[in-house]
Amino acid sequence: MTQDEAKALVGKRAVEFVEDGMRVGLGTGSTSTMFIRALAARNAEKSLNIRCVASSDASAKLGRELGLEVVSLSELPELDIYIDGADEVDPQLNLIKGGGGAMLREKIVASSAKRFIVVVDSTKVVQTLGKFPLPLEVIKMALPLVTSHLEKLHLNPKQRKHADGSDYLTDEGNFVVDCYAGKISDPAKTADNVRNLVGVVEHGLFLGMTNLVLIAGENGVTELKP
Ligand code: 5RP
Repeated sequence: MTQDEAKALVGKRAVEFVEDGMRVGLGTGSTSTMFIRALAARNAEKSLNIRCVASSDASAKLGRELGLEVVSLSELPELDIYIDGADEVDPQLNLIKGGGGAMLREKIVASSAKRFIVVVDSTKVVQTLGKFPLPLEVIKMALPLVTSHLEKLHLNPKQRKHADGSDYLTDEGNFVVDCYAGKISDPAKTADNVRNLVGVVEHGLFLGMTNLVLIAGENGVTELKP
């Protein structure tokens, strides 16, 4: 099975957790895109009477193009379920997210949902978080200050750029700094360290937030629970 096939498989499986009339959070990234496509197809077929909130402009646009009702979080502040991908998942269901730069809005939408289900292919499952760089969303003006603090914490920060060298900006208009710090042996401590820096709006560690992980691999889709 290719990685894309695994993403499609797990995206389709996640749709089974969406019930008629639910308020649904739509995640961001290629696996979430598979979920959104599968959800829209099911909705077109069964008329699920669902309303959605998206964690990025791209997912909102995609959902609407596919016929889903996508509204803002102020219109729909409480969600029944949020389904999103991740860059890494550890055995405690802690995550690194933000490879697509959407971790701030993703954390807001996840925090607004009663249930947070993560959809990944098996390459995302790790024993210890940290092979994937930890992304931080940073206020533009604070970049030099935050970078200098991150260097002192030995977190090896690097501002995210596009291939043409231009600044990568989030949907909220902030910079992203990726920390190439290696293994994160104490995720709670790292989260505290970065959260306390003035100018850091949010970080990509999602700790104790996940209710279920669906993992697609050679044996189909398996579940990881807390
Ligand atoms: C975006 C995210 C994504 O969920 C994460 O990067 C996984 O993406 P993909 O499904 O494309 O591998 O956190 O900010």
